[in-house]
Amino acid sequence: MARSRDRGAVMFEALLSTLLFLPWVTPVPPTPTPCQRCCDHLEPPEGDVAHMPEIRTHIDMTILKGEKGDRGERGTPGIQGVEGQPGRAGPDGPKGSKGGSGPPGVPCQRQHAAFSVGRRKALHSEEHYQTLLFDVTFVNLDDDFDMFSGRFRCRVPGIYFFNVNVHTWNFKETYLHVMQNDTERAIVYAQPSERSIMQSQSLMLPMGRGDQVWLRLFKRERENAIYSDDTDIYVTFNGHLIKSDEE
Ligand SMILES: *[C@@H]1O[C@H](CO)[C@@H](O)[C@H](O)[C@H]1NC(C)=O
Repeated sequence: MARSRDRGAVMFEALLSTLLFLPWVTPVPPTPTPCQRCCDHLEPPEGDVAHMPEIRTHIDMTILKGEKGDRGERGTPGIQGVEGQPGRAGPDGPKGSKGGSGPPGVPCQRQHAAFSVGRRKALHSEEHYQTLLFDVTFVNLDDDFDMFSGRFRCRVPGIYFFNVNVHTWNFKETYLHVMQNDTERAIVYAQPSERSIMQSQSLMLPMGRGDQVWLRLFKRERENAIYSDDTDIYVTFNGHLIKSDEE
């Protein structure tokens, strides 16, 4: 093997020297001179080069090709190209598995409002309207019922139930109103009678924050009265929240 390679190398060198010292000669035909008449003034030819055959040397470089070299070092990365347009959305993935149960919730904090008051004294009508005041407290959550003014003042807006009970005075009229602020909402009424009786009224009202509910005895022009005494409570006024607006 080594000997044949040596012989090949010697032959190659000989061929190379032959090619170098005896190059390929390609005769190039002279460019044709323009037609001249004999009487024309003969201009000297543009140098002898024009008539000399041009010699060009062609060496087939593929013959001189050497063995393949080692791989070069990796080049530095080029600058980043322009970002392409976003592709189309892929298909929906498979449905996930069911999650675990959440933490227990906090019990809802119900809001409350309630009052129940009573009166031990009778009341007769006067020249002007009178507010029914109370002197006994059965229930008064958060002091929503103001004993001084005789008014329930709404702290928790919502729907409320109200109830009033009075005892009539014999031979006198009984005439009062359930008031919401300055508006009459319901009446408690009884004609004069020789027998006194218990009379009542109940209703529900939507109440806004700050609204007031109270009982108003009618004026003298319709003389009227309610009965009560120290031994028993004949008059009661009750109210409580049915449903808060926030629930
Ligand atoms: C009722 O009166 C109270 C106190 O003046 C007030 O805050 C409230 O807004 C009134 N309500 C209505 C419906 O006018």
